[in-house]
Amino acid sequence: MCGIVGYVGDKKSLEVLVGGLRRLEYRGYDSAGVAVIDDDGHLGTAKKSGKLVKLTDELAASPIADGRAGIGHTRWATHGGPTDVNAHPHLGDDGKLALIHNGIIENFSELKNELLAEGYSFDSETDTEVAAVLLGREYRATGDLRAAFRNVVSRLDGAFTLLALHRDEPNLVVGARRNSPLVIGLGDGENFLGSDVAAFVQYTRTAMAVGQDQIVAITPDSVVVTDFAGAPVEVETFEVEWDAEAADKGGWSSFMAKEVAEQPDAVANTLRGRIVGDAVVVPELAAFGDDVLAGIRRIVIIACGTAAYAGMTAQYAIEKWARVPVTVELSHEFRYRDPVISDDTLVISISQSGETMDTLMAVKYAREAGARVISVCNTQGATIPRESDAVVYTHAGPEVAVASTKAFVAQITALYLFGLHLARVRGTLSEAEQAEQVGELTAIPAKIATVLESSATIAQLAHWMADTRAVLFLGRHVGFPIAMEGALKLKELAYIHAEGFAAGELKHGPIALIEPGQPVFVVVPSPRGSATLHPKVVSNIQEIRARGARVIAIAEQGDVAVLPFADEVVRIPLAGALFEPLLAVVPLQIFAMELSIAKGLDVDQPRNLAKSVTVE
Ligand code: F6R
Repeated sequence: MCGIVGYVGDKKSLEVLVGGLRRLEYRGYDSAGVAVIDDDGHLGTAKKSGKLVKLTDELAASPIADGRAGIGHTRWATHGGPTDVNAHPHLGDDGKLALIHNGIIENFSELKNELLAEGYSFDSETDTEVAAVLLGREYRATGDLRAAFRNVVSRLDGAFTLLALHRDEPNLVVGARRNSPLVIGLGDGENFLGSDVAAFVQYTRTAMAVGQDQIVAITPDSVVVTDFAGAPVEVETFEVEWDAEAADKGGWSSFMAKEVAEQPDAVANTLRGRIVGDAVVVPELAAFGDDVLAGIRRIVIIACGTAAYAGMTAQYAIEKWARVPVTVELSHEFRYRDPVISDDTLVISISQSGETMDTLMAVKYAREAGARVISVCNTQGATIPRESDAVVYTHAGPEVAVASTKAFVAQITALYLFGLHLARVRGTLSEAEQAEQVGELTAIPAKIATVLESSATIAQLAHWMADTRAVLFLGRHVGFPIAMEGALKLKELAYIHAEGFAAGELKHGPIALIEPGQPVFVVVPSPRGSATLHPKVVSNIQEIRARGARVIAIAEQGDVAVLPFADEVVRIPLAGALFEPLLAVVPLQIFAMELSIAKGLDVDQPRNLAKSVTVE
């Protein structure tokens, strides 16, 4: 939540900042702002509520002087509404310094009262302005931005990434982070800061991740990282795996459309380097040693939203293959109920961004309680992998649209790889069984490509249904989390009331919702792979059809049993029962996206949301 970019170097800052904000806008789009120190040492700022385009219009109408150091911000509002005044940057030291912030400063009231008592005043309702004013006070006392900044961050509680600059030190941007992301981009005669590498990947792919409770000071020629007390810290560099093109729309109408289409590659890239012959060997799991994996008695998967549905899907596969009990919990519930954790518990966290605060806190809790933690993550340099014992990266590439699509299929793929690795180590699957599952996995990219070919039919369906007020989704077994994912996509993208149910639960209450014309998507299990469940789901379809439901069945090629009872049938290729989710989710993603388009909504930036939820 909130996108942050900082720059010092030879280029004019505004172009770098606005370009960076454009790539970070998915993190929050309630307001945007920039502060730049121009070549004469003046500090210019501009900020505007609404999307970034409002700021760029403002800059075109009332230009600010440009210069070689600057900071920029896109906001997802926490303290104070999305107004111009509450937009960042906030100023201190009589307008000589500017500061931007991502996160929540929990003790801001106490600090504000302290400053008010000293005669300082505030324009906004934000916690951020308190840090800016405090920095001004500390600058007056020290005359040194680095020292003043250290004094400020050591007074703050909560989660924050802060960037600041002062017109009297025009070649310097300072940053700090606690429980919120900050990465450094290393250039030649220029350096960058960003909430994630997308902020600067256009200029450099060499990066460093600032660690927990660390401060960074960048000038055109130097990058110095210290702890909050000022002691130097060694930070490793890494090369960003993807380039600026990967984070561009590349001719697609939306990032989401592009990312849905990239799903075959997301799966193929996640498989790469992890299959040896007919078996799965995930090199990153070597961190544990086979004896540790063999000794695991319980697995707890923690995640939120779509990532949690990936976990729920993988629960079926991991239990079946590795014969270890698996539970899936929402990260934000997990640590507040005093869960039973022991050193033979393995916790798997799933997070596309690697920054979701609820999941980060649950990871820390689990490790403190003695569990080993593996993270499944899509973002290099993110916090959650660095707080974990091992990380299995999904190689889906940058996911920019707020609604997660390609990361979801990549997460299921990575978890399936984990399950097959574990089964091999524990000896719970024969070589032939492992080979069969590996064959299923490697066939998935081509099968997703086949599903994508029916996009136009699904789009037509969505456009017919543009006035729909509620949609239900049913599934069973691995189809159940897919039903819930289909409902989540529709809620967030088309603002339509949608619910996903386990089909077996229908008669225990939800069937009362069925009235004539009620659209119901049904994820139908394969008649071959799920011979016992298939007839039961077909019976469920008949039950709702008898009450007037309009049934849209997602069913495999050749399943004729659904035909008499379904109003529409969307076909998916044949696959093993556990692999159907990777195919069945695709039409549901496309349906939600197209319904959003049909309603004239913003597919990539749905209301009230942000890509990376860095507050609890
Ligand atoms: C929905 C969606 C969210 C995220 C959730 C977790 O489309 O994107 O539900 O899945 O906020 O985010 P990560 O995976 O970054 O931890």
